[in-house]
Amino acid sequence: MTKNEIPYKPLWPSWKEATTFPSLSKNLRVDVAVIGAGITGLTAAYHLAKAGMKVAVLEQSQIGAGTTGHSTGNLYAPVDESTHSMDDKHNFHIRQLVTLSRIKAIDAIEQNIKLFGMDCGFKRVPFYLFSTQEDKNHQKKIERETRALDHAGLKIQNEAPNFPYQYTSMLALENQAQFNPLQYLQQFASIITDNNCSIYENTQVLDVEKGQSSVLKTSKEMIKAEKVIMATHTPKGVYGAHAKMETFREFALAGKVKQKSPDPGIYWHLQDNRKFSVRSYHGENKAYVIVLGDPYLTGNTSSNSDRINNLQVYLKNHFDIDQFECLWAGQNYKPADHLPYIGTSLTESNIYIATGFSADGLVYGTVAGTLIADMIMGNPNPYIDIYNPSRLTFFASAKRTAKENVRVLSNLAKTAFAPVDEKAFHDIKPGDGKITHIDSRTVAAYREPSGNMVAVSAICPHLGCQVRWNGEERSWDCPCHGSRFSASGEVLEGPAYQGLQPIKLTTKKKNKPSPDRKPDR
Ligand code: FES
Repeated sequence: MTKNEIPYKPLWPSWKEATTFPSLSKNLRVDVAVIGAGITGLTAAYHLAKAGMKVAVLEQSQIGAGTTGHSTGNLYAPVDESTHSMDDKHNFHIRQLVTLSRIKAIDAIEQNIKLFGMDCGFKRVPFYLFSTQEDKNHQKKIERETRALDHAGLKIQNEAPNFPYQYTSMLALENQAQFNPLQYLQQFASIITDNNCSIYENTQVLDVEKGQSSVLKTSKEMIKAEKVIMATHTPKGVYGAHAKMETFREFALAGKVKQKSPDPGIYWHLQDNRKFSVRSYHGENKAYVIVLGDPYLTGNTSSNSDRINNLQVYLKNHFDIDQFECLWAGQNYKPADHLPYIGTSLTESNIYIATGFSADGLVYGTVAGTLIADMIMGNPNPYIDIYNPSRLTFFASAKRTAKENVRVLSNLAKTAFAPVDEKAFHDIKPGDGKITHIDSRTVAAYREPSGNMVAVSAICPHLGCQVRWNGEERSWDCPCHGSRFSASGEVLEGPAYQGLQPIKLTTKKKNKPSPDRKPDR
């Protein structure tokens, strides 16, 4: 099966009783408006509604269609960037609190599942970081991570029974967890909907008018809210946090195994200069292995066929794969100092942001939803300061911030001064997209499989960078802060509120010969 034939969607089967929610059909006034019905938004809405606040959750698509539903469902205390990478950025006390907040988030998910009797395959499993190569760098990395996790109070082991790989070095950590993130969200959404909390799907917020109360504008209706939570993975609009993060995408591939899949666990495999994250999943009497790896900067490459091929080779080399079942990708925002930004925005005290989760969105989303709800309710929370978006860690974050800003500026410069590609549309094959130039405008042109052309402005409406074609996902991706748009220009994710501006295409007719002009001989 080639990569083009693998269905492009996450593996997760829906919860059998999943319901749909209406779109917003009247103006509302609420205490708190939550933009985004992922794990961050629903966790915050749950706590706030339980405390008696009037909450509205606005989801531009459907529950689970965003980042949470595109995750791999792994819940772990060590951080994605590696816990030891925080050693020179944050003191011992902060590192301990970060680990503790993550452990508590996993516990909170488990408690919700037990409390509400949710059926989402939650299971406590071990976490492993290992190498199968005689590689000194890998060994050093695993040793440093062992020390960092040990300092953070976690009980590390260096062996594991029934390990599915021949490892050269390894650390094991018991009592981490896995679940089906889509089923968790779908059940959570049904549970939290009551008189205090309403959820609206297919309701895209187009702007937030800031003030003492904020006004959220959708295509027709409006919501007036005392507080707004941007639970959109990265805040919508323009915020300082955007300049302090790099945006990555990463493909995940699920293969159905012929016989036995590895024992449940979170397997982080260091191989050459990459890290592959592997887990098994059982659903509908089938066994799967999922691999995720090799992230790339969003909007910085137009072909990822090598990456996808690497994932296929990885699964085939390590497991008895019957067929590749699903392929999908998720986005993550890496913060400059390796800690998320969770709390009030720097400029508006009634707007709350939650971003910079790296690839740890399920755990940090739960941390964020709880923390923001506590802030709004005035409850004490020990993690407010460490995740505060205004924290002063200039020296810790200067390197990544500087690198990111240079990249953004160079992309802006290309928008204004890059040479124009004047190849005609007939070069664009069905299903393909290309940046080209029409009437002095930089145009993102896409040919639908039917042959029909669609053209939109190639300039990202967020802050003006030029988008790039993403061939595998058929989307226009912005390299500056990760806004993504469908092939026809609608917002998929990222900080942009508006889609790419449509451009009307006309077919030029050949000039008729002038009546007084003599015919050519
Ligand atoms: Fe910021 Fe495109 S996402 S300019």
